[in-house]
Amino acid sequence: MSLPYTAPWLLAPMEGVTEPLFRGLVLGLHEPSDLGGACTEFARVSSSALPRRVLRAHLGEPGPIPVALQLMGSDLEHLATTATRAVEVGAPVVDLNFGCPAKGALRGCAGSALLDDPERLATVVTTVREAVGGRVPVTAKLRAGGEDDARLEELVDAACAAGAALVTMHARTRAEAYSVEADWSRLRRAREAADRHGIPLCGNGGVETHDDLEALRRETGCAFAMVGRGALADPWIFSGHRASKREAATFLLRYGRGLIDLGASARGGVARVKQLLGHWTAGGLVPDAEARKGWLRERDPEALLRRLAELAEQDPEPAGACSAARRAP
Ligand SMILES: Cc1cc2nc3c(=O)[nH]c(=O)nc-3n(C[C@H](O)[C@H](O)[C@H](O)COP(=O)(O)O)c2cc1C
Repeated sequence: MSLPYTAPWLLAPMEGVTEPLFRGLVLGLHEPSDLGGACTEFARVSSSALPRRVLRAHLGEPGPIPVALQLMGSDLEHLATTATRAVEVGAPVVDLNFGCPAKGALRGCAGSALLDDPERLATVVTTVREAVGGRVPVTAKLRAGGEDDARLEELVDAACAAGAALVTMHARTRAEAYSVEADWSRLRRAREAADRHGIPLCGNGGVETHDDLEALRRETGCAFAMVGRGALADPWIFSGHRASKREAATFLLRYGRGLIDLGASARGGVARVKQLLGHWTAGGLVPDAEARKGWLRERDPEALLRRLAELAEQDPEPAGACSAARRAP
């Protein structure tokens, strides 16, 4: 079934980060020809099917760049009902999470627990695919394995044979969590396995710069590349635009203020800004480790927002440069 993505680069699902506000800010920096799609953070399906209002809240308002709704769970009936509701509320793609290494997911035999049981993984994909009845594509996001990558091809085969329209492979195993360098030879292996089913592969893991996006595709042959933390460091990574200090500060300020407007406390909103600052590279706002510590040590949330507001006022660009600059070299 054909995928709605508008370009080969995708923004990864990230729990606690890729909610509608952050996604909207990132998507708003890009044309659909630069950033092909995004994904909600996972919506956990456990003791009952999720109500439509929860799914709507995950999806936010639709825009020109499609956003897949990601579900994580192992109860077939609840997943099927939730997937049907996801389609009813407008999800253009239902993605299934088989990568989350968190203890809660493992206890519920969901997320990366299913990497140890390719047959069960296939049953989950088939069940959800049948529930949505061909109305939207169902995709699967895997890691390279549980303890090691010995069953990588078996996992890709299972997802493809069960009818996944796209398989995303995070190049690390569950045991490796997020720590080690992503091994792109695994993406090539996964792509070769998916090729045998005629299913496109999306490679994920370790994309840190705009050039890495093309390098990943060149080295692995993947049709799509997905970016997680690289987009927390530089939300312009998909277009390659080099943000100015002013643009970078404006992004972070809008994010922090936006969260507060939506009901977060100043401390809560700024904690999320600091989460980004822990990764941030764009616009020279964080030139070195000392500067990063300086941002992260700021205890007064209003003082941090004021500092961003001052930077957002500095380094003025000519009127209209913001939108023109989006596609600057
Ligand atoms: C804070 C955080 C939250 C994440 N949440 C999810 C999630 O909800 N669903 C999912 O499939 N992967 C999740 N991931 C994994 C990312 O989608 C991605 O696979 C991983 O970060 C590797 O890509 P990267 O090296 O580009 O960061 C999360 C990663 C991070 C850092």
